[in-house]
Amino acid sequence: MCGIIGYVGKENALPVLIEGLRRESYRGYDSSGVVVFGKDAQIVKAVGKLEALEEKLGSFRIQGGLGVGHVRWATHGGVTEENAHPHADCNGNIFVVHNGIIENYRILREKLEKRGHTFASQTDTEVLSHLIEDFFEGNLEDAVRKALQLVRGTYGLVVIAKQDPEKLVAARLSSPLVLATNTEGGYVASDPAALVSHSNKMVFLEDGEVAVITEHGFQVSDLFNVSKVKEAVELEWSVEEAQKGGYEHFMLKEIMEQSESILNSLRGRLVEKEGKAKLGGLDPVKDRLQNVDRLIISGMGTAYIAALVGEYMLEEHVGIPVEAENAAEFRYRKPIISDNTAFLAISQSGETADTLGALREAKEKGAFTLGIVNAVGATVSRETAAGVYNHAGPEIGVASTKAFTSQLVVLALLTLYLGRQRGMSLVTGQRIAKELGRIPELVRRILDQADRIAVLAEKYWKYSNFLYIGRKYNYPIALEGALKLKEISYTHAEGYGAGEMKHGPIALIDENFPTIAIVPSDSVYEKMISNIQEIKTRKGPVIAIATEGNTEIGDIADDVIYIPKTLEMLTPILAVIPLQLFAYFFGVAKGYDVDKPRNLAKSVTVE
Ligand code: G6P
Repeated sequence: MCGIIGYVGKENALPVLIEGLRRESYRGYDSSGVVVFGKDAQIVKAVGKLEALEEKLGSFRIQGGLGVGHVRWATHGGVTEENAHPHADCNGNIFVVHNGIIENYRILREKLEKRGHTFASQTDTEVLSHLIEDFFEGNLEDAVRKALQLVRGTYGLVVIAKQDPEKLVAARLSSPLVLATNTEGGYVASDPAALVSHSNKMVFLEDGEVAVITEHGFQVSDLFNVSKVKEAVELEWSVEEAQKGGYEHFMLKEIMEQSESILNSLRGRLVEKEGKAKLGGLDPVKDRLQNVDRLIISGMGTAYIAALVGEYMLEEHVGIPVEAENAAEFRYRKPIISDNTAFLAISQSGETADTLGALREAKEKGAFTLGIVNAVGATVSRETAAGVYNHAGPEIGVASTKAFTSQLVVLALLTLYLGRQRGMSLVTGQRIAKELGRIPELVRRILDQADRIAVLAEKYWKYSNFLYIGRKYNYPIALEGALKLKEISYTHAEGYGAGEMKHGPIALIDENFPTIAIVPSDSVYEKMISNIQEIKTRKGPVIAIATEGNTEIGDIADDVIYIPKTLEMLTPILAVIPLQLFAYFFGVAKGYDVDKPRNLAKSVTVE
């Protein structure tokens, strides 16, 4: 979740670094820093937002064509300037920016201190600059290679040295790094979003690779200096896509563009007449998929909630046993996996540490691995045998919105794809395909109600506790609605399956504890209505998410948001949208920075 940027070339490095850090700042950070080599090495760090760093830089005139920058999200050592990156060696010759965790840093630090190194911070990262200093004999990449052979842990790091000043040296193990070049020079970053304004052709480093980047290009090798041939990937994300597009917050922009992002996820993938889905990424493994007799879907946060919806979709329509698993738990169980078990990782970023951990565990045990990933080229997509990209465009707001609906759409496509291989009738296939094709338009109709939902958020924002309930397909949506409210507005919210209500949560209900009930006209509608009545009997205010044309619900609930009618399996895609908007306006009403909620990060790349 920290961000790295490095530049070497003809331009002045500082503006390139600051722009890169700004583009990476959506990941969540608490301090930042840059070092630029001009006549001398100038290093500036600041705690807090990037503006604080820029303010400090205002009094410096840093000129020079080589530099690195970092936004830090603290893991080891408090949020202080000393602990912010870049970290230097004893002599101010070598500077390191690092994402990840050096697990054996205590032992390394003790040894280095015994050898006379003095440390300026409490970070694990600082051992790297001193270790590299220890091995430095004039060639930076040689020293980096030797140092990394002693390191245990994870890293995406970039190093520069005054005594070898024409290059950036970058290395990766489990923490992403991407390179790009143009006529102005060479770039490295932890996130492609930081480089899109310089080039759309990117080279992703793999684990164990070391890159030397100069003004004229780059060379990649491994820790033992064996050269690697790398191919560039062309990214379709434009700079504009990564900007707010006129909305006050990225989160609102991303909620409001869901009609379009869903369309992008569906584009070219529906064959309505044949009632089929075309998923190019799965075609090479079509035969292998035929043998799969069990599917595990796993992810974290909102991606895990998408997995829960997928469980309902796939079990109902494909007829194989499906389990949704929280990746952080799965990786430390002793999961039982056979050759015919498929493991599907869902991740917007494709870099979430626990999701990767679970994926590797499943792979190791022989599972056939698949991925649903939004960030093209991310680790999950590279470590799975096959998969499907979301094509939802970059998601900047920390709380996932458009990536979630896109994940649900891809799961529905997967249901169609696998279902038709395994006995789903042509008629059912056609019905699902046709209805999926209508979803972007149905989503637009819900988004048109944004102003009304803003008024509702105004009405309720002073309540401090909320219960979200749903059943079957919309049980996970109750969890997601509650998660969104917690993340964005720091308001206590609990998501429950409505059937569980009588086993505890109903004890909380009184006139100060509103419930949001997801109650579309589906196969569990009557049961939901009984649950809502039980809440009303106890004077709990109720906001219902119901299907257009329902004439009964208005008399039972205090407020109703209507969503269009669709197939039961697709209702979660529609029902979640009012909940996203409600959480957004609620957070705004409370005056919070909804794009960067406190304590949260967009991409959680440590356990
Ligand atoms: C973080 C984000 C969530 C996201 C989760 C999983 O917690 O704040 O919005 O759902 O990570 O991220 P992934 O990139 O794996 O989907």
